[in-house]
Amino acid sequence: MPKIEQFSDLFLKPRSADTTLYRWLFEELRSAIAEGRLRPTSRLPSSRSLSRQYNVSRGIVVCAFEQLCAEGYVDCQVGSGSFVRTVIPERRLEARKTQGPLREIPSNAGLSARGHCMANNSFPGVWTNQVSPAFRVGQPSISTFPMELWSRIASRRLRRAPSSMLAYGEPLGYRPLRDAIADHVGKARGVKCTADEVVITSGTQRSLDLIARLLLDRGDKVWMEEPGFPGATRLFQAHGAQVVPVPVDEEGMNCKAGRALNKSAKLAYVTPAHQFPMGVTMSFARRTELLQWAREENAWIFEDEYDGEFRYTGRPLAALRSMDGGDCVIYSSTFNKLLFPTLQLGFMVVPPRLAGPIAAAKSITDRFTSVLDQAILCDFISEGHLGTHIRRMREIYAGRLDILVNCVRTELEGFMDLSPARAGLQVVGMLSQGISAMEVHDLAFAQGIESVTLSCLAINKSLPEALVLGFAAADSRAIRGGITCLAEIIRGVKIRNLEQARIAH
Ligand SMILES: Cc1ncc(COP(=O)(O)O)c(C=O)c1O
Repeated sequence: MPKIEQFSDLFLKPRSADTTLYRWLFEELRSAIAEGRLRPTSRLPSSRSLSRQYNVSRGIVVCAFEQLCAEGYVDCQVGSGSFVRTVIPERRLEARKTQGPLREIPSNAGLSARGHCMANNSFPGVWTNQVSPAFRVGQPSISTFPMELWSRIASRRLRRAPSSMLAYGEPLGYRPLRDAIADHVGKARGVKCTADEVVITSGTQRSLDLIARLLLDRGDKVWMEEPGFPGATRLFQAHGAQVVPVPVDEEGMNCKAGRALNKSAKLAYVTPAHQFPMGVTMSFARRTELLQWAREENAWIFEDEYDGEFRYTGRPLAALRSMDGGDCVIYSSTFNKLLFPTLQLGFMVVPPRLAGPIAAAKSITDRFTSVLDQAILCDFISEGHLGTHIRRMREIYAGRLDILVNCVRTELEGFMDLSPARAGLQVVGMLSQGISAMEVHDLAFAQGIESVTLSCLAINKSLPEALVLGFAAADSRAIRGGITCLAEIIRGVKIRNLEQARIAH
């Protein structure tokens, strides 16, 4: 006898274009539980019925159920279904606060306008501790990091650390590290500076936050690359800035378009060495134009060199900051990508007039960055290991990129075209034949394959159907398996599309 569905249809709000199927389904189910539409102890609709009702794959529904279970909203009982827990996280919090009868409090209640903006705009990405995930964007290879060497340097440092190293540190950072960085960027990136212009932070995101706090007032305009890095867009918006999406073409950010959209922006955010995500290098002419604009408008430029040292062919152009003379360009780089993300160390080379205000801002926000970690990194750089590591990683990443290009060529010919990539940690795969990037993304995600749709990185322009694929974190096996999985999914979507078109006729 067929199983009888006990649950009537569950109403879920329609999905907005910039939300993935998985995120939408998870959020909607969570709201239904938090708002009491799905009551404690009640059974959730089966994955089969939800999948049929909302036309999403069962894999995605199962992923959403698992996340609800992990976050304490439901209990999943194999064979009998998923049930809403009697006490869900919101009520536990509330009960702790009021010690009285349960009362519904919206989770954003009491937040400032900035708090609201931040609460609704978290850093886009997935947090799992997989070591070699295909095709996670923004993660360097961690399995190949020379951990033994690092721990030798760390234990030597700790053994010999004077007591002064346990005291409060300088807001701008550990002086010998700032010297070592000034030396490194001078040689490797043509950035002429002294340690007085170097500021140590916990990474690019923190550098952006400091700069936004110091330079932007509510309503100030910021030029952002379109498409571009959402971590920067969301942060500027959280500080009340008005983000102006400036289109990127094969020469990088189009300054003429920027001038036409809003000439008088206060700051421009750019990734000139290797544009995120399109991968183009900003031409010399565009660099000159951008600097010219900044001088005319008295504006600042934030140069985010998040992966520019990983160039696989040709000679890298010197950093934009090297053309500026130190007036308006803030050069930013991060060891979280050059080495490993949990290090949480990055730096900026700032115009000299900004060093004092940054030191003051740091002193009343995070005071200073962990001195012991800075000292270990300092030894790693001074003993020549950073240069060796970057050269070694260039080879490893170039090899991974080759494997990815070959796999796409053999398994996805006619369906996906990769952007020409000569640098960085990710490539863009343009989809053809009417394949929806969001659909492929969601189906792949349900099978453990990560990616980012190009349209998720746009502020308001509609972009071609494409997936951004990170290749640095994944080893050769993960890359091959990931492409095989993507190829199966894409062919399946194609067959389904043809079938639907046939029925419609
Ligand atoms: C373009 C770009 N800049 C900066 C960052 C963040 O760097 P960090 O980890 O140092 O905050 C990312 C992270 O993915 C990125 O893609």
